Amino acid sequence: MNDYITVALPKGKLFGLSTELFKKVGWTAEGLHEKSRKLIITNEDAKLKFIITKTADVPTYVEYGAADLGIIGKDVIAESGKDIFELLDLGFGKCHLMMAVPKDKKRTKLEDYSHTRVATKFPHIAEKFFSERGMQMEYIKLNGSIELGPIVNLSESIVDIVETGTTLRENNLEEIVSIMDATARLIANRVSYKLKFDRINKLVADLEKILRE
Ligand code: PRP
Repeated sequence: MNDYITVALPKGKLFGLSTELFKKVGWTAEGLHEKSRKLIITNEDAKLKFIITKTADVPTYVEYGAADLGIIGKDVIAESGKDIFELLDLGFGKCHLMMAVPKDKKRTKLEDYSHTRVATKFPHIAEKFFSERGMQMEYIKLNGSIELGPIVNLSESIVDIVETGTTLRENNLEEIVSIMDATARLIANRVSYKLKFDRINKLVADLEKILRE
């Protein structure tokens, strides 16, 4: 068995918060910062490896066991549909997934948007949400700057993450329905969790203690 524990960390908003939290329980490595061009950063003494990946790819590395553990938002886990083990709600990275439209193009009811185009990074969650309400939509998958969709008439609406609400406000969009709440989670590969149980469980206990303080 490989002695190392490999942790997948997402680039972007969760990176700093994740490394800060890990540092508090002694899980760190020299050179672990977001600007690093190195994709694997190792702490030989602590037998730790950190890999820095695109946000949406964290569940994939963990499902296949290329990483034993990962930190990622609940929204990304839900969208990925990957078979991973969720160990801990870390509480930070609070946001929610919602549907928004341009303020001046609001329709009366949600159902009034049936058969329109929705731009999103989360087509699976969106599809589930709308189909549960008997709505058929056309999904346009974008990889970022989703708010641009309705502004340039690529779509009528968006399904995207809101954190502070600034992006919606600055682009004259208005939330019309909330779809799910999300926070960052510690996730594990199912086999790694069994094989490396002691170290992983100790990490979870240490993190829980820090989060309670
Ligand atoms: C996310 C999300 C919104 C924005 C919401 O995008 O997709 O665009 O943050 O945050 P706010 O409510 O605080 O304005 P991100 O910055 O991750 O970049 P992206 O658009 O490239 O996905």
